[in-house]
Amino acid sequence: MSACALRVFLQRAAVMRKAAHQTFSQTRAFPQCVTGSYTHSRGINTLTNSLRAEEKVTVHFLNRDGKRISVKALTGESLLDIVVNHDLDIDGFGACEGTLACSTCHLIFEEAVYKKLGPISDEEMDMLDLAYGLTDTSRLGCQVCLRKDLDGMILRVPDVISDARVDSEKESSTAPPKV
Ligand code: FES
Repeated sequence: MSACALRVFLQRAAVMRKAAHQTFSQTRAFPQCVTGSYTHSRGINTLTNSLRAEEKVTVHFLNRDGKRISVKALTGESLLDIVVNHDLDIDGFGACEGTLACSTCHLIFEEAVYKKLGPISDEEMDMLDLAYGLTDTSRLGCQVCLRKDLDGMILRVPDVISDARVDSEKESSTAPPKV
């Protein structure tokens, strides 16, 4: 495949990924962020107020190649939303569209920021266990929602990603046949 054809292929893949994510986001009963940290501790009234008072904050991603990608995004968006909506060049990120089935959205936070993020669900913890390069301050980007007090945070993209769906397919194809 020529370089030009490859570039066109990658551009089309990015457009399709963005469209699929937007369609999926619209069909979910609640945005990921609504079912996450807001409702856990503060109740529906605070949630509604939070959604009304959307503000832009800055997020910095430290990509695998060491380059920093800085974006302004709305409070209430998940980190997966930000990567998709801004077409950030983070290879393989968010493969399952936020359905907690892949762990490709693994991100590493600064400790002080990590402490502000709130509780991790059992489902997120199960998926994090499958992520490569897990740290004490790791979270899944599809489960973390932007808030005003997270303005300016720096997130590190791990060097290697694992996709639990692909990994389990590989395991089953290499497993010895049952007798
Ligand atoms: Fe798949 Fe977050 S996007 S677990």
